[in-house]
Amino acid sequence: MINIQHLSVKIGTTHAVRDISLTIDEGEIHGLIGESGCGKSVTGAALLGLLPDQAVVAAEAMTLDGHAVLGAEAQLRGKRIALISQDPAAALNPVLSIARQMDDVLRCHHRTFKKSQRRAAASDLLTDVGLPDPDNILRSYPHQLSGGMQQRVVIALALATGADFLIADEPTTALDASIEAQVLSLLKTLVQERGLTILMITHDMSVIERCCGNVSVVYAGVLVENGPTEQVLGAPQHPYTKALLGALPGVVKKGQPLQTLPGSIPPAHKAFTHCIFADRCEAAAPVCLQQPPPWRQIEHQSARCQFAGSPADD
Ligand SMILES: Nc1ncnc2c1ncn2[C@@H]1O[C@H](COP(=O)(O)OP(=O)(O)OP(=O)(O)O)[C@@H](O)[C@H]1O
Ligand code: SF4
Ligand SMILES: [Mg+2]
Repeated sequence: MINIQHLSVKIGTTHAVRDISLTIDEGEIHGLIGESGCGKSVTGAALLGLLPDQAVVAAEAMTLDGHAVLGAEAQLRGKRIALISQDPAAALNPVLSIARQMDDVLRCHHRTFKKSQRRAAASDLLTDVGLPDPDNILRSYPHQLSGGMQQRVVIALALATGADFLIADEPTTALDASIEAQVLSLLKTLVQERGLTILMITHDMSVIERCCGNVSVVYAGVLVENGPTEQVLGAPQHPYTKALLGALPGVVKKGQPLQTLPGSIPPAHKAFTHCIFADRCEAAAPVCLQQPPPWRQIEHQSARCQFAGSPADD
């Protein structure tokens, strides 16, 4: 459904995205993970056409169902692609009732619907996202709802557009753990029941583990590993993915210290001709500083590292 090849986004002197490729099948929840500032949201914004004017976007391919996205973002936004963001309170208009906000979206995207049909559709959508008593929710203003309820309303608004590809940018970061689990479960149900496709942007490996069939790992704007979640999490091949997993309390064996990754991400203005992870990589060898690492394939998993898949990694 989505095919992005070698996306780069430069904003001023910042290499926000250096080289990210993603292929996402219909009906898939695809995880995009990496630490803060690695270009996850900018990748989502590029698909939505929501980058600042000075951003320079280039890609060998960027298509939705084979049709070019670049240049057509405004037409696709809200028709095929919708955003669920981290902060539901900011996504909702604080001075308009939920009924008005749902009605505005439905009126815009379903021009033939009469008012009574829009009201019924709004009520059905709120029920679909697990909100009991939709009439009461419709009468409410955002501040009268909890964070979890607000995020469900945001999801209902995304569905109201008719979009079938959702970009969920840290959709549960602002929610407590039990509400997070409910919202992730809702998204999985919507994928199964409505055939939606989701790009799940997160910095939380447990979100990937719980709901993504495939995952792409990004470091400093560069895709470094991708593949089925089970394989990538079970047998990570790139040293950066290994470091991310080694820092997770649930993954490290009892009694073993959590690993930390020494150093920090490279400056966003710096250009690279060798491995971008080299100065933080314990496995770095002279060759890593001489040329960009090749992609190496291990079954359905790929890693951009000189030594991925070598016996030393087993
Ligand atoms: N509007 C902008 N103008 C200038 N630089 C930007 C803009 N938006 C993002 N950037 C820069 O692009 C890089 C990637 O940012 P991005 O927001 O995509 O990171 P992220 O992976 O989503 O991080 P986080 O996990 O903190 O949300 C960062 O260096 C950021 O400072
Ligand atoms: S190519 Fe070299 S420096 Fe880069 S991740 Fe692999 S081992 Fe580390
Ligand atoms: Mg972000």
